[in-house]
Amino acid sequence: MRHFITDPEWDKFYYHSRQIKGQKKIENESEEEEIKKVQMVLNRLKKLNYISNADYNLADFKDLRRKVQNDFFIYWTAINPPMERLLYALSDILRPKNILGIGIFTGNPVIWSLGPAIQDHYKYDKLVAVEIDKEHAKICQENMNKVAGEGRVKIFDKDGFEVLKDYSDKEIDLLYLDANGKDPCAERFWQRRRNTKRINYCLLKNAYSKLDPKGYAICHNAYQPSFRKIAKDYLEFTNNEDFFSKTATIGIDEMGIEFSKI
Ligand SMILES: C[S@@+](CC[C@H](N)C(=O)[O-])C[C@H]1O[C@@H](n2cnc3c(N)ncnc32)[C@H](O)[C@@H]1O
Repeated sequence: MRHFITDPEWDKFYYHSRQIKGQKKIENESEEEEIKKVQMVLNRLKKLNYISNADYNLADFKDLRRKVQNDFFIYWTAINPPMERLLYALSDILRPKNILGIGIFTGNPVIWSLGPAIQDHYKYDKLVAVEIDKEHAKICQENMNKVAGEGRVKIFDKDGFEVLKDYSDKEIDLLYLDANGKDPCAERFWQRRRNTKRINYCLLKNAYSKLDPKGYAICHNAYQPSFRKIAKDYLEFTNNEDFFSKTATIGIDEMGIEFSKI
């Protein structure tokens, strides 16, 4: 069952890259406005029984944002400000003990989901992320060490499919997917050779048995028109109730996420 959590007003704007003709760039959105948007999403998720409460630690989010802004090396990112806050809030509410991020560049895509665990809001078991590009993975590990403390988050400079093989059944509480790469599940030759977001469908299929029955999967970019076209298999999979009890396409910015509950 799919829910769409968005707002026609939000669709009129973009933060990083225009997706729809006529969208205007958001400049200097106030913190108040950003908090309001995220709260609207959380309230809706609570109402739809994805999450049990809609409260998160605003002061600690601010602290994490300051640290990331000061200490992280980031080439570029389309993880926009309200998305940073939303990802953080979801982890603060769900408290996933075992988090795995795949396709995380130099770390900015996944740091928000790791934040509450790093800040010791709860006791975690395993915080891991994977980036296939060795140079980016190295920078990511350095970034994580600065913000989380030495060695608390393990970054693998490997292929996400390889790392998944080392996970046991039902081990992962939160899987964060943001890969853009070669998709081994693709039927068409060109899809197996080019980097596409469809790889996340293949990653999710491979990860499925490793997800806790109360676990969640998040995939970045799911609200982008190109994702809906190229990676529509991802959205069909998460919409299949044999696998996920519910799934929400959240268009808080032009990129959005798919937030799926087993
Ligand atoms: C460009 S990043 C995503 C950026 C993110 N959406 C943002 O806005 O900051 C996608 C990453 O997926 C990585 N990737 C591609 N295939 C992968 C795989 N099989 N395993 C792990 N990482 C992979 C790429 O190297 C790339 O750094």
